[in-house]
Amino acid sequence: IGWNFRYAALGFCLLTSMAMGQDNLLDDAKSLFSPIPKDPPVLNSNPATAEKVELGKMLFFEPRLSESHNISCNTCHQIGFGGADGRPTSIGHNWQHGGRNAPTVLNSVFNIAQFWDGRAADLMEQAGGPIANPIEMGSTPARAVDQLKGIPGYVDAFRKAFPEEIDPLSYNNIGKAIAVFEATLTTPNAPFDRYLEGDEKALTVEEKKGLALFMGKGCASCHSGVNVGGGMYAPFGVVEKPGGDFLPPADEGRKRVTGELQDQYVFKVPSLRNVELTAPYFHSGRAWDLDEVVAAMGTAQLGTRLAPEDVSSIVAFLRTLTGEQPQVTYPALPPSVATTPRPAP
Ligand code: HEM
Ligand code: HEM
Repeated sequence: IGWNFRYAALGFCLLTSMAMGQDNLLDDAKSLFSPIPKDPPVLNSNPATAEKVELGKMLFFEPRLSESHNISCNTCHQIGFGGADGRPTSIGHNWQHGGRNAPTVLNSVFNIAQFWDGRAADLMEQAGGPIANPIEMGSTPARAVDQLKGIPGYVDAFRKAFPEEIDPLSYNNIGKAIAVFEATLTTPNAPFDRYLEGDEKALTVEEKKGLALFMGKGCASCHSGVNVGGGMYAPFGVVEKPGGDFLPPADEGRKRVTGELQDQYVFKVPSLRNVELTAPYFHSGRAWDLDEVVAAMGTAQLGTRLAPEDVSSIVAFLRTLTGEQPQVTYPALPPSVATTPRPAP
């Protein structure tokens, strides 16, 4: 990344702008983006069965995975609320705040890695993080396993989800089950997907103008692929470093993961799928207004001051990325018994 990245990105922007022409809009879009598949993707060495997906759903909504028995994954990633929590930073164990905005879990299966800094390779690895994070769910791997082993319904559910295993109720398998459930949280059939599939009427004239600008100005050199982002890392502030309100100096991003100076203030380029549902924005969660975010991207990432009408068109295009939201039936969680470990006071 760093300087090499900067030249690669600029070269790519020039190429995309030269290739732009209203007639070829759909072809250009098809070369940069792809529609969300109708079926959930299959995960490596973690095949989905109905029993495993159902268990993963129970665990996603399971407050007893937290030390307080009050916080589940869905507390900070509300499935009916764009897969996020609508807060700058989340409220976790003992009302503590983390330093970053909770990204959506919707379509996160398509991201190159998980977390703003990519420190978890995939959903399975990611799921172990929050349970044991002292300011999120406040438990530990051992306590989480003991908790579930103390609930007979889970002993049974893990046996059914992992029928070949001698000791199926393990921390690893908690992650596997949650991951296969999360892989079902995709949002196909957005107007933009229908457009990519050839329905030219799926976007209005204004939205098409926004798409043309999104490609022509160079946004798509970073936000591309099936998730319109989520596929690479980039410095926040390639051309002009944003102010400390959007980019608080203490969070150096991916540098903390790799230890490399060139990764200072580098973050995963976020997916823009369903972005109209997931305010506030940026890893700091400090920006509430999508128009302001797009304008800030123009100056920070591209060195361009976008005209207000161009910002509006781009935002109109971004709204076409809202897909069909997952229809999830709230699971019935198995009851605690007298010997089940109790919540922390
Ligand atoms: C990040 C899932 C619990 C707050 C993520 C991501 C996923 C996820 C998939 C990465 C998304 C991406 O990078 O695109 C889960 C699951 C949970 C859980 C499965 C339950 C086991 C929580 C809770 C909170 C929370 C309870 C709030 C207290 C956050 C935050 C991030 C995040 C702040 C971003 C952290 C960073 O990038 O450093 N979560 N989450 N999550 N989640 Fe959760
Ligand atoms: C964040 C749109 C250009 C890299 C965002 C967000 C939006 C957006 C809406 C906030 C998403 C969220 O927080 O959920 C745009 C538009 C662009 C553009 C409309 C063109 C005008 C670029 C370029 C790059 C890039 C060219 C790479 C050089 C990033 C990164 C973030 C981001 C790294 C995360 C920043 C952070 O919070 O740390 N973009 N983007 N963007 N974009 Fe862009």
